[in-house]
Amino acid sequence: MAEPKANEHMEKIVSLCKRRGFVFQSSEIYGGINGFWDYGPLGAELKRNVKDFWWRSMTQKREDVVGLEATIIMHPKIWEASGHTSTFSDPMVDCLLTKKRFRSDQIDPQSGTVYFYSGAKDSTSEKVSSEAYSVLIGNGKHPDHARKIARQFYTTRGVANPELLGERTELIEGTVRYNPGNGSLFTEPRPFNLMFKTYVGPVESEDNVAYLRPETAQAIFVQFKNVLDVARQKLPFGICQIGKAFRNEINPRNFTFRSREFEQMELEFFIKPDETASKSSFPGEPGTEPSWGWEQWHKYWVEERVKWYESIGLSRDVLDFHWQQKSELAHYAKATVDILYKFPFGTQELEGIAARGDYDLTQHQKFSGKSMAVFDEETKERFIPHVIEPSAGVDRLILALICNAYTEEETTDEKGLKETRIVMKLHPRVAPVKVGIFPLLKNKPELVKKAQEVRDLLRAEMPVFYDDAGAIGRRYRRQDEAGTPFGVTIDFDTLGETPDLKDTVTLRDRDSMQQQRMAIGDLVPFLLSKIR
Ligand code: GAP
Repeated sequence: MAEPKANEHMEKIVSLCKRRGFVFQSSEIYGGINGFWDYGPLGAELKRNVKDFWWRSMTQKREDVVGLEATIIMHPKIWEASGHTSTFSDPMVDCLLTKKRFRSDQIDPQSGTVYFYSGAKDSTSEKVSSEAYSVLIGNGKHPDHARKIARQFYTTRGVANPELLGERTELIEGTVRYNPGNGSLFTEPRPFNLMFKTYVGPVESEDNVAYLRPETAQAIFVQFKNVLDVARQKLPFGICQIGKAFRNEINPRNFTFRSREFEQMELEFFIKPDETASKSSFPGEPGTEPSWGWEQWHKYWVEERVKWYESIGLSRDVLDFHWQQKSELAHYAKATVDILYKFPFGTQELEGIAARGDYDLTQHQKFSGKSMAVFDEETKERFIPHVIEPSAGVDRLILALICNAYTEEETTDEKGLKETRIVMKLHPRVAPVKVGIFPLLKNKPELVKKAQEVRDLLRAEMPVFYDDAGAIGRRYRRQDEAGTPFGVTIDFDTLGETPDLKDTVTLRDRDSMQQQRMAIGDLVPFLLSKIR
C-alpha cells in the first residue's frame, strides 16, 4: 500500500502535468476514458526527445542495429504462433456485490472472520435465493457489517427484504477471495485475454478477427528474414522498433504507469546459439567478437541500458534491478532482468531485458512454414538465431523522468519573501524547451528587437520559448516548472550601455540559478554541447 505522503507527492505531480501541459486525461470533456492519456505541448516534446534519443543511441550510433516500422494490426496467426492468443491473460475476478473488476494477483492478502450464508428469503414475499455467499470482515469488527453487505447482495438477486439463512463463521488468514474495499466475495478467478480485438473488412465474423498488437516485438520476428536480406548484416545484429502497443489491462493505475494504449521501444538482438558461438574464441569486446554466449550478451545489454538511463538523468541510485526467478519467467524466456525505477508509489518496472532463446523464430517457422534459419559462413552451419530483447515502455519512462525531475525548493523572491520554487530538473537532452528568451522590458523596442534576433538565432537549432510578460523572476519560475534548463536575458548591457558587455546576455542555469555573462556568438555552441 502506498504511503499517504507518496499519494500527496503523486497528486502534486499529476496536477503539475495538467497545469503545465505535460499530460492530460484522454477525452477529458466527456469524463475521460480509463487507461488512456494524451500528451500536451510540453509532454509531446519530452516524449519525442526520449524516442529520438533512444533511436539515435540504439541504431544510428551503432553498426550492428537497424530499424523497422511495422503495422499495428498484423496477421492474426502471428499471435497464435507467439502464444498470445492462448496465454496472454491476467487472472480476473469480479466483486459479487459491486461488479467491480480486479486482477486477482494484485489483491493484498487479508485475514479476519468470514460470514457464510446459504441463501436468503424475503420476509414480505415468497421469494428465496439459495445462492451461497460470504463476507470477510476484520477481526473484532461488528458482525452487523457482514450482515449488511450480505443483505445488499441478496437484494441485488431480487430478494427485496432479505432474511439471511444458515449463518456460520470461520477465521481465515491470507485470503485473496474477498474485496478489500467492502468484504464481499469475488467470483472465481478466470483468465482474461489482454489483446484488443477488432475486425478487418466490413464483415464482423470470426474469420475476420484481428488484434491490436500487444507488443512491437513480434513484427520484428516476422520480418527478420526480409531485414536480414536487405540490411547487409551478419550475426550478431539487432532490429529495433518504436511504436504503439495495446493491452486491455483489467486495472489501469498509477497515472500513466499502467495504461491500455502505450508505446514501446524494443530491440531484438539476434545472436548465434551458444553451441555455435563457442566454437570460436570468446569473450572480447562486444561487436568485435561475434561469438559471445547468450549470458554475456544479456549482461552486456543490461549494462548498456543502464548507461543509457544515466545519460538522460536517471542515476543508478534511483534505479533498481530484479533478476526474475524461474517461476516468474515468461514462457519464452531463459532469463529476464527488470530495470526498475523508484516511483513515489513503489519501485516498479521500466524495462525488461529478456533472453528469449530461439523461441519466437522457431514458432514462426512452425506456423508459417517459412525457414527462419541462417547460414553461418564461419562454421558452415545453419541455425535459428537466439535473441536478447531489451524492451522499454516510453510512457513509463516519461513518468519516471517527470517524477525524478519534480523538485520543490525554498527560495527568496526579489522582495526578500520566502517562496517555494517548483522546478522540473529534466536532463537538458530530454527537456521539452531548451532555452527561455527574455527581453528585460517589453516596452523598450531596442530590447525587444535584440531579444527577437537572439530568439531567431537559437530557434534555428533548438526549441526555444520567448516570454516578455511580467517580472523577470516570474518568467524564470514559469520556465523552471516547464523544465527549461537555460534562460537568456537581453538587457541594456546587451545593447552596449556598458561598452565591454555589448552583444552579451545573461545565461541562467535552471538548477543552480547561477547567472553568467556570455557573448551571443557563443550561445549556440555552448547550448548544443549541453543538449546533445
Ligand atoms: N516484448 C516484451 C514485452 O512486451 P513486457 O514486460 O510485457 O515485455 C515491456 O513489456 C515494457 O513495456 C514494460 O517494461 C513496460 O515499460 C511497458 N509496458 C508494458 N505494459 C504496459 C502498460 N500497460 N502500460 C504502460 N507500459 C507498459
